Amino acid sequence: MRKPFTRKPFIAGNWKMNKTVAETKAYIAEFLPLVEDAEADVALCVPFTDIAVASEALAGSKVGLGAQNVSWADKGAYTGEISAEMLVEAGVKYVIIGHSERRAMFGDTDKTVNMRTIAALKAGLIPILCVGETEQQRMTNKTNAVLRKQMKAAFENIAVEDAVKVIIAYEPIWAIGTGKTATPEDAEETCAFVRSLFSRVYKKVAAKKVRVLYGGSMNAANAKDLMAKENIDGGLIGGASLVVGDFVKVVKY
Ligand code: 13P
Repeated sequence: MRKPFTRKPFIAGNWKMNKTVAETKAYIAEFLPLVEDAEADVALCVPFTDIAVASEALAGSKVGLGAQNVSWADKGAYTGEISAEMLVEAGVKYVIIGHSERRAMFGDTDKTVNMRTIAALKAGLIPILCVGETEQQRMTNKTNAVLRKQMKAAFENIAVEDAVKVIIAYEPIWAIGTGKTATPEDAEETCAFVRSLFSRVYKKVAAKKVRVLYGGSMNAANAKDLMAKENIDGGLIGGASLVVGDFVKVVKY
């Protein structure tokens, strides 16, 4: 059911490091006919090696293609990195930036998250910018301070016209892959806080436009209650996006 707001719901699957080319082809062939009538904007964020085949399979459909990281540099000696221009040429529309797994395991910092976001916007990609606190931080009442710092740094030197294009994903780290979802009330409260942080920098009109997603063990069983909340405009789905039937249920919450 549509909420009385102008923000279009957005449901994105984050496949993380899952699925081969063959598996990607089979998934998309099964998935597309089932989501043709979806009301939400839908995206699949796939591993780099699946982008070519996914781009071909999704062409002409309403499902957007996303990547899971992007370099801050245009080109050059950056072994292992992929540039925004390369992604755009390959048919990518969205890119996840600053996922907690990249921050925790692959050295992403508030600074590099900001640099990647700027590079993505410059190339015309839509960043899906992830923020979120650890369990320890939540238990010690540091959630708001952590989010304030992450948000401030992420949007450094980004003008309002670009900032409103960013899709913000609030992903409490303790809820990722754990089956422990934030309650709709807690998720709403924190997504509202994230929006208020955006509003402090970019003012209320812009904050009403920007989409804020929830992510962390979101699935067919809890999507409807989360999506009913005023400040939750969609979801970034990990585990539950890997099986077509499960993800379709989330898309059609
Ligand atoms: P899960 O849905 O598996 O908890 O993952 C969430 C996530 O990290 C999406 O980016």
